[in-house]
Amino acid sequence: MSNSIQILGPRGNTLAVQAAVQAASEGRTLFLLHGFPLDHRLWQYQLEGLSDRFHVVAIQMRGFGASTLDEPEFTLAELAQDVEFLRQHLAGGQTIWLAGLSMGGYVALEYWRQFASQLRGLILCNTKPNADNDNAKAGRLAMAQKALAEGTWAAVEPMFGKLLSEQTVASKPEVKELVKTMMQEVAPATISAAQNAMAQRRDFTEYLPSIHTPTLVIAGATDPIAPAEEGAVWSSKIEGASFVTIPDSAHLSPLENPDAFNAALASFIR
Ligand code: MLT
Repeated sequence: MSNSIQILGPRGNTLAVQAAVQAASEGRTLFLLHGFPLDHRLWQYQLEGLSDRFHVVAIQMRGFGASTLDEPEFTLAELAQDVEFLRQHLAGGQTIWLAGLSMGGYVALEYWRQFASQLRGLILCNTKPNADNDNAKAGRLAMAQKALAEGTWAAVEPMFGKLLSEQTVASKPEVKELVKTMMQEVAPATISAAQNAMAQRRDFTEYLPSIHTPTLVIAGATDPIAPAEEGAVWSSKIEGASFVTIPDSAHLSPLENPDAFNAALASFIR
């Protein structure tokens, strides 16, 4: 069972998490960072399936879920500082494992850059280390403007068809429905802030050989957004990193194939 927790952040903002707390966790805490434009429900099968061994904390980033946006803009570096604030308050100041999916992976890399000594392990899921080229940046700015002018769904609908594998769409209608609901519930101002933040994100390609934190890279077998073939190449630049491909899964592997995803994560954390 998991609980909703809301904490007053340093700027008077609300930071919300969904947490499954386990007495037998022996201080092992796993923080989870969702992708765009989603929320903590991306991790529902990890909150259930991994909480026998860990405190599992699924963060809602600024403007997503019950976390407030407060200011119209943020950077991914600031989102990583929010994670550090939550670590200090929810993990008893202990080191954590941090998993991030796609945008959450970009934030996890920012966390590593600023707070590597607080990490026991880094799990980069369905993500990529590079920054955007000019085309991708222009696409993000267009989506931000469309969300503000026409609403969230008009802006994000073209993404919807890329998130789930054919198998998931055919066999898990409840997952498809949940993803649509999460996307529709994000406020236009958050869509805009997140797209602007991702357009300005740091390029981590050159940093990969400097990552000495134990790292697991997870890819979805048919992910068109963060292709598995590319994941196999960039993960090899991180010394000692493990790389796992999740079958029957596109961009949202923790929801699409939770058994394979949880097994990969549990085996890495052990
Ligand atoms: C995500 O799933 O977080 C997005 O695909 C990230 C992005 O737009 O680069």
